[in-house]
Amino acid sequence: MRETIIILDFGGQYTQLIARRIRELGVYSEIKPYNTPIDEIRGSEPKAIILSGGPASVWDDDSPTVDRGVFELGIPVLGICYGMQLTAQLLGGIVERSRMREFGPATLRITNGFDLLSGIPDKSDIWMSHGDRVLELPPGFESIAESENSPRAAMKNREMRIYGTQFHPEVVHTKFGKEILSNFLFKIAGCRGMWTPKSFVETAIKDIRQKAGDATVICGLSGGVDSAVAAVIIQRAIWDKLRCIFVDTGLLRMNEAEEVVESFRHMGLNLVHVDAKERFLNKLRGVTDPERKRKIIGEEFVNVFEAEASGIKDARFLAQGTLYPDVIESVSVKGPSATIKSHHNVGGLPEKMNLKLIEPLRELFKDEVREVGRELGVPDEILGRHPFPGPGLAIRIIGEIDEERLEILRQADRIFIEELRKGGVYDDIWQAFCVFVPVKTVGVMGDERTYENVIALRAVTSQDGMTAKWARIPYDLLEKISVRIINEVRGVNRVVYDISTKPPSTIEWE
Ligand code: XMP
Repeated sequence: MRETIIILDFGGQYTQLIARRIRELGVYSEIKPYNTPIDEIRGSEPKAIILSGGPASVWDDDSPTVDRGVFELGIPVLGICYGMQLTAQLLGGIVERSRMREFGPATLRITNGFDLLSGIPDKSDIWMSHGDRVLELPPGFESIAESENSPRAAMKNREMRIYGTQFHPEVVHTKFGKEILSNFLFKIAGCRGMWTPKSFVETAIKDIRQKAGDATVICGLSGGVDSAVAAVIIQRAIWDKLRCIFVDTGLLRMNEAEEVVESFRHMGLNLVHVDAKERFLNKLRGVTDPERKRKIIGEEFVNVFEAEASGIKDARFLAQGTLYPDVIESVSVKGPSATIKSHHNVGGLPEKMNLKLIEPLRELFKDEVREVGRELGVPDEILGRHPFPGPGLAIRIIGEIDEERLEILRQADRIFIEELRKGGVYDDIWQAFCVFVPVKTVGVMGDERTYENVIALRAVTSQDGMTAKWARIPYDLLEKISVRIINEVRGVNRVVYDISTKPPSTIEWE
């Protein structure tokens, strides 16, 4: 049985971060909703449980709570922030409803530097983000650390192996957070740390073989990291029973289709390249609404894919590069995050074609997918690529799409990416691209007045695409990019840099 830590999610903004930190320490962790039935928790035989933070107050009428049975499973429990307050309240302590929030950096002073806090300096920086705090500890508990505003900044019941921290050890601003989590996992819960890309690959290969038997698996390749890694891992499991399909929608970047096909063939993947450019462009003619664009592209993709796949004998499975964040979003307490943009492009395909899904990456975070890819020998140029949306350049041309606009966008985008690479900043950026803005503005070139389009540069840093900050690209580099685009791309006389944060803006413009 694999070592598992279960994180019960109370809707905290850092819940995913807890899961990632634990996995970085080499222990597999899973996020489950706070109200997961106790039998289900017991059934996965976790080594320990973590109760996450969350926006609620234990004093709220319908505040989320947990089955008290989690404290009686005989395994260690760590409550973080709301998780600590809830633990205190359920076990007979008192939580003080506070009108003041303590948010941001604070100093932790350790009063009992054993087990959870062993090896941590007496004074260190921590990250706080809470309103309520524990006023009176439950019987059998002792305070093990304090901060200026929280005399009980951490607590423990050594005998029951139940711990709580008012601060957030998972956040990088908590200087020794990783050490604290490591103490919990290895010293307290007795984990051994066996979660590595290698062990993942071995298990995944066995699972795929068992599931697929001798059926054929079809995999749609997009050129992105996720589908590439999914394909390679399936290939290792079933070799020539994997058939990959790459649909060229005509909405890709410059030379992208050729490059993708070349590198996948090089990796030995059995690949069909479908040129469907005309079909997509015809369907999109005159369409301006972003959601309609997505819908048309999604449907057309399914049609093209289906036509291709239906000719493959014994095809019973469809591989998808679904990742863990997509899986947890659908169970978290917040519910599926509001469908602001409909991102899933091949929805409906498996049902339509009566295919079962194989999703070998559904347990992984994006950075783990990259590590697994590295383990499998997927080339760095694929692993390091920025994410690219399924609808491609269609949602990066505001308004109508036509060949001329696509060509302008492709040329500008190539220059942007090329310069980011030359400037050594490409790998620090989550995603960078150009947007074609069909607004004519006045310029002057030589002695002539011009009246042409705007190209917007968008570059963001992010952990997962859910929130993002605009990338602080050096001015000199921005200038170089702007000069090159205006000089080299006909039809553009103005370049602007998008400095919006997500939220409230999104990463893509449409
Ligand atoms: P937004 O624009 O919502 O984007 O901030 C977040 C991430 O999702 C990508 N994105 C898409 N991916 N189909 C996709 O496969 C889509 O329709 C789509 N729209 C946005 C976007 O590029 C970013 O990485």
